[in-house]
Amino acid sequence: MDAMPKDAAIVIAPELCIVVPVLNERDNVGPLVAALHTVLAGIAWEVMFVDDDSADGTRATIASVAATDPRVRMIHRIGRRGLASAFIEGAQASFAPVIAAMDGDLQHDEAVLPQMLAAIHAGADIVVGSRYVAGGGIGEWDAKRAGMSNLATRMGQLVLRTQVADPMSGFFMLRRAVFDRASRNLSAIGFKILLDIIASLPEPPVIVELPFQFRTRVSGESKLDAGVLRDYALLLADKLVGHIIPVRFLMFAAVGALGIAAHMIVLFAALKLDGLSFATSQAIATFAAIAGNFILNNAFTFGDRRLRGWSFWRGLLTFALICGVGALGNLSVASFLFGPATFSWWLAGMVGAAMSLVWNYAVSSVITWRRS
Ligand code: GDD
Ligand code: MN
Repeated sequence: MDAMPKDAAIVIAPELCIVVPVLNERDNVGPLVAALHTVLAGIAWEVMFVDDDSADGTRATIASVAATDPRVRMIHRIGRRGLASAFIEGAQASFAPVIAAMDGDLQHDEAVLPQMLAAIHAGADIVVGSRYVAGGGIGEWDAKRAGMSNLATRMGQLVLRTQVADPMSGFFMLRRAVFDRASRNLSAIGFKILLDIIASLPEPPVIVELPFQFRTRVSGESKLDAGVLRDYALLLADKLVGHIIPVRFLMFAAVGALGIAAHMIVLFAALKLDGLSFATSQAIATFAAIAGNFILNNAFTFGDRRLRGWSFWRGLLTFALICGVGALGNLSVASFLFGPATFSWWLAGMVGAAMSLVWNYAVSSVITWRRS
């Protein structure tokens, strides 16, 4: 085949779209596109950068490459973050029948892409660029990160109904039809989109794993931090029980249960150790439980919308008020059920408590931790 003119993408619809989430990858964009041109000669491809409002000039760099290269496209997202959701939106913005996910920091080996496409043509649903099959490797990772990756991979088996050596890989290719079958069930939380896709499919897909060596990052920085671990735990929980009960609500309820324990401890201490009156002790315990719940919910349940500085104190106030109203509602419903409705004491008590739990959750998530 003759060398394709640079504007071939205009007349030939791309067969392959490489979705590349980027966050502050200015110096990696140009070399990445150049590398794609080298390895994908003869294939109708496009690259879809998904930029979450980088502050380092990444978009300007992408724009200047795109000025002479119609294969280069971009989505600019504002006020949103996340590798998984970036991939999903990138995939949805393209019509290509085959989609690949690749990091924008040159750590993934683009030379594997043609083999991946060949495996798709040969019938695979998903082709994984794998560090954990013969010939693959994790490059220069330290023992700690290697161990963490290993543990996370094993935990991932909880939600995968099929054997995959490297379900945490961010480098993979799949048919659009497969993506479409998973898309409505995706959790879209955090970094691990491949695991999310496999766990969201109604039937286990045909997976082929091809080895690659994870390269060392040269420019820019990794975005992997503690938040990525929390997101991974949330993803697993959402995949395990999320179709029954929202994970955030479960966390809120768990924090509430801790709050009851804290309440009893503080009550005991105030009453028995400090010798305060019951009413005073109960008031102190109630406030301690509310404040404790607020701090834990702020750190974990709503960790993605965490309140800081002045907002923290305003949040504590609104949360205490909401819980106060919830307690009043609890009291009146439980008294009605126990009295006129003649429920047993424990059923009346439980319904009242459940009601205030749902109220506290529903109202605090739109007032105290409203999306900014
Ligand atoms: N749009 C967008 N939004 N891009 C992001 C975000 C985000 O919130 N966070 C990270 N990225 C981009 C980075 O700019 C980079 O192009 C790519 O996603 C990977 O991010 P890194 O921060 O370099 O991740 P890593 O190298 O630590 O992790 C890689 O290896 C893991 C394997 O253990 C990723 O490929 C993971 O997906 C993979 O699981
Ligand atoms: Mn990286």
